[in-house]
Amino acid sequence: MRLENVTALVTGASSGIGEAVSSHFRREGARLLLTGRREHLDTAQPDDVYVPGDLNEEAFVAGLAERAAETFGSVDVVVLNHGLQASSPLTEMAYDDAKNVLHSNLLSAFLVMKHFVPLMPEAGGSFVCVSSRLGMVGTPGEVLYSAAKGGLIMLAKGAAIEWAPRNIRVNVVAPGLTATPIIESSFQRRPDPEAYRRQRESTIPLQRLASPEEVADSVLFLASSESSYITGAVLPVDGGYTAF
Ligand SMILES: NC(=O)c1ccc[n+]([C@@H]2O[C@H](COP(=O)([O-])OP(=O)(O)OC[C@H]3O[C@@H](n4cnc5c(N)ncnc54)[C@H](OP(=O)(O)O)[C@@H]3O)[C@@H](O)[C@H]2O)c1
Repeated sequence: MRLENVTALVTGASSGIGEAVSSHFRREGARLLLTGRREHLDTAQPDDVYVPGDLNEEAFVAGLAERAAETFGSVDVVVLNHGLQASSPLTEMAYDDAKNVLHSNLLSAFLVMKHFVPLMPEAGGSFVCVSSRLGMVGTPGEVLYSAAKGGLIMLAKGAAIEWAPRNIRVNVVAPGLTATPIIESSFQRRPDPEAYRRQRESTIPLQRLASPEEVADSVLFLASSESSYITGAVLPVDGGYTAF
C-alpha cells in the first residue's frame, strides 16, 4: 500500500483522469476527499467524501478546506486535476471565454493551493498538478488553453521553491492525448471518427492515446514517497510528443 495513512484531495474526480487517480489512490490505501462540479458521483465508494462545487469560486474552495479539516484534520496529498479544454482560434475567442479558461485551469489551482497548504502536516506533503503537453508546446487553435496549462507549470515550480523548506513538494504531470470521455466524444463528433483517431495517433511517437490509468500511474508516483526527492518537476506522459 503506497498511500497507507495518507489523506488526499482529488479535484476533477468526477471524470476521466480524476476517476482513474481516485481508483489508484483508493487501491493504495488513501482516504479520499473528492470534488467535481456534478451533484452526485456514481463512482464514489462508501468511505470517500464527495463535495461538489465550482473551484473558480473562492468561497467554495475555502469551504472545501474547512470540510477537509473537520473530516481528516490534515491533508497529505492534493491532486489538482480539474480543468477545462477549449479550442478556438485566438482572434475568435470571446474575452469571457478566455477568462473562463484561465480561471478553470490556472487561478482555481492557485485557490486550492492557497487554502490547502495550511492543512498539510508539519512533516510535509505533496501537490501534483495535471497540466498538459500543451503547457509545454504551442499549438494552433488551443492558445489560451496552452497559456493556462503553461501557467500552471510555472505556478507549480514557484510554489515548489516557496514551500520546499516545509518539505511540501509540488510536481506536474503533463499528459498527452488521453482516452477520456471528453476526448472520445470529440472524436465521435467528427464525420469519420476512426480516420480522425488514426490521424491524431499518427502525430504521437508511440502511435496511440494514453489511457487514464497510465496518467494516474505517474500521478501516484509523484504523490507517494517514492518521489520524495523530486520537487518542481514536470513529467510528460505523452507518448513522446514533446520529445520532438
Ligand atoms: N484527456 C486529455 O487528452 C488530456 C490531455 C492533457 C491534459 N488533460 C488534463 O487532464 C485533466 C483531466 O482531463 P480529463 O480528460 O479527465 O477531463 P474531463 O473528463 O473533462 O474532466 C474534467 C474534470 O474537471 C472538473 N472541473 C472542470 N472545471 C471545474 C471547475 N471550475 N470546478 C470544479 N471542477 C471542475 C469536471 O467536473 P464535472 O465533470 O463534474 O463538471 C471533471 O471532473 C484536465 O486538467 C485536462 O486539461 C487532459
